[in-house]
Amino acid sequence: MSKTTLKIAALAGDGIGPEIVREAIKVLRAVEKKQGLSLEIVEAPIGWAAIDQEGKALPDSTVALCKKSEAILLGAVGLHYRDAEMPKEKRPERAALLQLRKQFGLFAQLRPVKLAASLAHASPLRPERLEKGVDVLVVRESAGGDYYAYPRKTDEVIEVKEDGSTAHRVRRAIDTTALSASEIERIAHVGFRAAWLRRKRITSVDKANVLETSILWREVVTEISGQYPDVTLEHMLVDTAALQMVLRPWHFDVVLCGNMMGDILGDVAAALVGSLGTLPSASLGTLRHGRTFGLYQPAGGSAPDIAGKNVANPVAQILSAAMMLRYSFGSDPAAKAIEAAVEKVLAAGYRTPDIAGPGEPGIKPVSTSQMGDAIAAAIR
Ligand code: IPM
Ligand code: MG
Repeated sequence: MSKTTLKIAALAGDGIGPEIVREAIKVLRAVEKKQGLSLEIVEAPIGWAAIDQEGKALPDSTVALCKKSEAILLGAVGLHYRDAEMPKEKRPERAALLQLRKQFGLFAQLRPVKLAASLAHASPLRPERLEKGVDVLVVRESAGGDYYAYPRKTDEVIEVKEDGSTAHRVRRAIDTTALSASEIERIAHVGFRAAWLRRKRITSVDKANVLETSILWREVVTEISGQYPDVTLEHMLVDTAALQMVLRPWHFDVVLCGNMMGDILGDVAAALVGSLGTLPSASLGTLRHGRTFGLYQPAGGSAPDIAGKNVANPVAQILSAAMMLRYSFGSDPAAKAIEAAVEKVLAAGYRTPDIAGPGEPGIKPVSTSQMGDAIAAAIR
């Protein structure tokens, strides 16, 4: 039987993107060989790199490649110091990243945050808060809500003083948020299914004491929970959730949230383990070419301050590639092979600067490419 070729669009993008994507491809090639897979990896520009080459953050040729592919492995987009060069709608964050999520219907973002035993020193939490571990999966709605709803604009309005004495023009900005019951249902199912495969607890986050969308969210999530009797559901307001995640991280299993709240709580969860440099993410959509189409990228950004210096941590990108093998290609063994290799290399003391604890005995300081080499070599 001939092997199925898995088609991957590799979009390195900006900042540290190219150097960490290079390491992820190195590791994918090692897994391909060891596990007998067949991967077709084609690179294309995105972000400022694409603006420089083709005048557009998401060139048509890149979209065409993504359409032919079964998954996207993305590095990072955005360089804040170049923002003034482009109007905001054409900058990479909106014109490339949010556009890809929308265009490919990537409504479910998964951000697993797990503290590796060997990296406990990197967490800002006191040891007693870490005793019971940190193992949280943030499930974030990522194709709707505050990020996409209209109207959104900045205009001017006449403001009249309370006593009517003076009227003057002031700038005013409007954002909108909107979510339909079906959008809430589909992300809720992703959350409940994920919880069912884990510790069977789900915390649904909202601001139902203020927002209409949150009231609907709470109602719909409660309805859907009836289909998952084995999973324990609790509702939590977003401010409480942020507090509790820091004070009692062990309490959380799956955290289900809307777009903006998920963006924020994803980073709170990431802070628990100290470095964004080790955390992957997956943005999943529905089936394309018979597979779950997904975009896989590190939870962190382009980190322009350390770009091009061969010091960035490639682990988040490499673990994103593992998520790709698991979710889009259904190859759990290949995903596990990568995850085991990462664990082994971290346990052996390999450390890029972001995770090198001061005074940690016996560590091996390494560069981006040396970390990639070590992980590729540890693949079985
Ligand atoms: C993320 C990022 C993006 C988001 C930005 C760059 C638009 O923060 O992937 O979490 O908010 O979704
Ligand atoms: Mg974010």
